[in-house]
Amino acid sequence: MNRTSNRASVSPTADARHLMFEDLEKLGRILVETGDVAHGFVQGADDMDVTCRDFSAFDPSRPLAEQGSGTLDALRAAKEEILPLLAASIGPRYLGFVTGGTTPAALAGDWLASAIDQNATGPEGSVNAAVEEQVINWLCDIGGLPRDRFDGVLTTGATVSNLLGLVAARQWCGKRVGVNVDADGASVLPDLAIFAASPHASMVKDLSITGIGRNSFTKVATLPGSEETDLVDLKAKLEASDARGKIVIASAGTVNATDFDNLNAIADLCAAFGAWLHVDAAFGLFAALDDRRAHFLAGIERADSITSDGHKWLNVPYDCGIFLTRHISVLETCCRAFAPYLDTKADGNSYINRGVENSRRFRALPLWMAMKAYGREGMTSIVRANCDQAADLAAWVRSHEKLELLREPKLNVTMFASLGSDDDNRALLDRINATGKVFLTPTIYGGRFGFRAAFSNWRTQDHDLAIIKNAIEMVL
Ligand SMILES: Cc1ncc(COP(=O)(O)O)c(C=O)c1O
Repeated sequence: MNRTSNRASVSPTADARHLMFEDLEKLGRILVETGDVAHGFVQGADDMDVTCRDFSAFDPSRPLAEQGSGTLDALRAAKEEILPLLAASIGPRYLGFVTGGTTPAALAGDWLASAIDQNATGPEGSVNAAVEEQVINWLCDIGGLPRDRFDGVLTTGATVSNLLGLVAARQWCGKRVGVNVDADGASVLPDLAIFAASPHASMVKDLSITGIGRNSFTKVATLPGSEETDLVDLKAKLEASDARGKIVIASAGTVNATDFDNLNAIADLCAAFGAWLHVDAAFGLFAALDDRRAHFLAGIERADSITSDGHKWLNVPYDCGIFLTRHISVLETCCRAFAPYLDTKADGNSYINRGVENSRRFRALPLWMAMKAYGREGMTSIVRANCDQAADLAAWVRSHEKLELLREPKLNVTMFASLGSDDDNRALLDRINATGKVFLTPTIYGGRFGFRAAFSNWRTQDHDLAIIKNAIEMVL
């Protein structure tokens, strides 16, 4: 059946799919007009308010219409009703959380991934698995991780990568003492001990999801004035533990102070005490690209598993997480999905057996496009520029008589506060964000309320720093 007869077989009165077939006929125009709308938004992100503070114009309770009127009408509605109420989080002055923007190549790759809509489960009938394998190889190269030792999977984000780290680690711990958590459940390894000094909130959440429990980890001390693991305390706590399974969670780039653990020393302790080493390097992995900072990651190749993200510093659209491990078969034991209809004889990696999802977006494509388009140098420039910007803001704060730097940034996050009380600072943060010129998120550091300015967007330039400083100055 050709396309025309297919369309003709759908009656406009009896079958509402006629709208879809009509849209398919004008798909070229739809994509061009969508491109125009997207282009306007992306270009405008420099000038629009960085966040939207009043969404009351959008009514989430509105009923679903019985009949639609096609894509171009829906696009017009999105342009009028949704786009004006969005955050310019792809823009250069959104410094909240650790929010990457989207490079043009990554955006193109992401759109293409939607258009071709592969179900990236594995190698059956499509090259998508080989592309993911290549991207994982490139990521290993960036992180200085030997390709022959590390393998991995793309995830929805660092939270899920941390989850995979816990799941694989628990399986490995069980295997060492002759129990099979995958088959028989967590109860066969009740004495699992987890040691962490500065676990990210997502890791604590993952402790709950895995049934280990949010409170069921041993808090290791940090070095004074830092989020870095205190090695003496870690050693003492490992020594004191008689648990049969041990997991150490280390950080390569904490979310506040951007501190890095001494990974070589921690790897030595893990080897001595038979512990799995998981390193959360959600954005810190890319410090490897900056020769002024690559040494922070010394020893990361000794990790058993590593979390990272594409949607942070690689400036790939949401969602794109990265999980790397030296024990891919352990991960595959935990994540395999058995069913006759899933069986494949095709050669290549079955990513369905490496992560949480069965059906998966072709996440490798935007990463592949970004790395292909800009190369290692392009990725390096983003990292270096953002680190310089964090240092520049820190220098300004240090010299300002009304502001205080909470920590010298090691990487891309500047933490600061005004000299006032915590309540003064809460109100000040609100005033800063209300300027619409910049968006900062709060933190507590050293017992004080402060602001985080996280630079992770490729579009941030020197003139943005001037706008940011001016906005803060105006409301101080
Ligand atoms: C160190 C670290 N780990 C994990 C996460 C969670 O990342 P995601 O939001 O991609 O799940 C973050 C997010 O900021 C992070 O900074």
